[in-house]
Amino acid sequence: MLNQTVRNAGIVGVGSYVPEKILTNSDLEKIVDTSDEWIRTRTGIEQRRIAEEDVFSSELSARAAMNALKDAGMQPEEVELIIVATITADMLTPSTACIVQHKIGAINAVAFDVNAACSGFIYSLSIASQFIATGQYKNALVIGAETLSKVVDWQDRNTCVLFGDGAGAVVLKATDKEYGILSMHLGADGSIGRNLTIPGLAVEHHEMEKRRPGNYRTLWMDGSEVFKFAVKIMAQATIKVLDNIGLGIDDVDMIIPHQANIRIVNGAAKLLKVSREKIFTNIEKYGNMSAASIPVALHEAVKEGKIRNDDLLVMVGFGGGLTWGSIALRWFR
Ligand code: COA
Repeated sequence: MLNQTVRNAGIVGVGSYVPEKILTNSDLEKIVDTSDEWIRTRTGIEQRRIAEEDVFSSELSARAAMNALKDAGMQPEEVELIIVATITADMLTPSTACIVQHKIGAINAVAFDVNAACSGFIYSLSIASQFIATGQYKNALVIGAETLSKVVDWQDRNTCVLFGDGAGAVVLKATDKEYGILSMHLGADGSIGRNLTIPGLAVEHHEMEKRRPGNYRTLWMDGSEVFKFAVKIMAQATIKVLDNIGLGIDDVDMIIPHQANIRIVNGAAKLLKVSREKIFTNIEKYGNMSAASIPVALHEAVKEGKIRNDDLLVMVGFGGGLTWGSIALRWFR
């Protein structure tokens, strides 16, 4: 039976893991017709991490999860729910979350994946917080993890320079206090979803035509269409999630956005009329890690002391689907 008291879900632990191998822009100059200068000025990216051939999203997830549990002072057996946000699952089944459950020994946890691309971590955090708000579960491990290096076409300069591998995780716990997740806003528009695709089982002629022969299962993107959508939606989703709780942009201490392109962040900052110091970015180090970008950025912001108790945070993501999502949260540890 569900508990009648609706409770907030607060982040009590945060962790991340990125592969050791670094691929720089100069390395990419040797693979495709590009330049360090083009990548830096058009995207803000300087390098990205690449998982070894036999390392998949579940392994990055498990390492990030163990770091987050350590930060929360919790043992894996205490975890009640695991959600992994990913579009680069190890397998179609079992879910990456089930593989992680087994890897870390979280024997009492329910586990499933969420596919919402770069918005996946925000979607997953929203789902987990509902389970906690209703009293169904007391805690949750929410992970964003990707091995995008395994699905990009390394001959396609339009996409291969943008993406990287990594994982971030948070532990959510119920709290009766006025902190934690205060508001959420999610959205999806499948009518424009074909701007960013990775084929699954369906073999479609028009998707085949977008790709080089023999590369049917790789990521394809209409970058400029996604770009225009992203700037607008990042600003709108930030305003909406604050509006829900009667707050405005001036009340925000820090925005942790999805890290797709520094020009998307700067464009949204301009629309929001918010100072760039209030927006955390680390895209230069990792590129776009899809569902992993926001939790990895959150972990770094916390480690760098950029987030203090009582700060109002907004985490905002957008991407494949196309989807978007934002969460407003009062930080307290
Ligand atoms: N190196 C050099 N030139 C490149 C290049 C690369 N790696 N990639 C593309 N170009 C070229 C294009 O071929 C094009 O050449 P052309 O004018 O001769 O046709 C030119 O650069 C400009 O391309 P354009 O698409 O107008 O560039 P842009 O300013 O829109 O930047 C992206 C391209 C992909 C960086 C940008 O659109 C973007 O970041 N989009 C959103 C990306 C994203 O991360 N989405 C994921 C989901 S959130």
